[in-house]
Amino acid sequence: MKGVVLAGGTGSRLYPLTKITNKHLLPVYDKPMIYYPIMTLVEAGIRDILIVTGGKNAGDFLRLLGNGSEFGLKHLNYTYQEGEGGIADALRLAEHFADGDKICVILGDNIIEGSIRQAVEDFKRQPRGAKVLLKEVDDAHRFGVAELEGDRIVRIVEKPKNPKSRYAVTGIYMYDSTVFEKIARLVPSERGELEITDVNNAYIQEGTMTYAFLEGWWTDAGTFDSLLRAANLVAEKRRAERAAQQQAQFAKG
Ligand code: G1P
Repeated sequence: MKGVVLAGGTGSRLYPLTKITNKHLLPVYDKPMIYYPIMTLVEAGIRDILIVTGGKNAGDFLRLLGNGSEFGLKHLNYTYQEGEGGIADALRLAEHFADGDKICVILGDNIIEGSIRQAVEDFKRQPRGAKVLLKEVDDAHRFGVAELEGDRIVRIVEKPKNPKSRYAVTGIYMYDSTVFEKIARLVPSERGELEITDVNNAYIQEGTMTYAFLEGWWTDAGTFDSLLRAANLVAEKRRAERAAQQQAQFAKG
């Protein structure tokens, strides 16, 4: 399976932090934001990765990431999104790269504590369709919200005023190669964007969408509060890792 990191957009909710740089290059504790989704894909065994960027600072991604050697990669792929067409519009640019393979798509501002390895393995065995990862949250109205019936996902509603459940659809999506036909059939939403939620609902209508729950914490980092939360969560994780390392060394004597 191939990986796609979506890192375009204007980051208007973080203005003026994003006045002269791209949101995904901002720091989250000790690393630039985009490092985290790349690490998530690499940890899950995905090594063929495309970065979709845009805007005035696209060249900075190349300067920062190069060929991905910091992540143990030999090569990274890049493409450029013209304008502001939304997440599904950015994903359209991955068609050539995907070349008929399944893809795991992650939004460049989604940071997780744990691993998506199991879900990726499960999706490799899924004959067709898509898979989303859900997380129970207190502020579901900020996200795409999944409505479940038994083990089926029956609908996703984008940022509902009155969410019917507490299950946020995280920005980690797995698709078969029909995703690009589905994007081609989309019409722009009220905010003038091609919505990833509409892509997911097309799979739900087709009866080929599965879901899994994400273990550990999950956060986006596209607002002042979530950016701060992300930094604090990562800092806490680093402290725990250091403490565990020290303990292991101490045990060795
Ligand atoms: C996007 C999606 C939303 C999803 C969220 C996850 O929202 O539209 O469905 O729950 O990412 O981070 P955005 O961050 O663009 O508002």
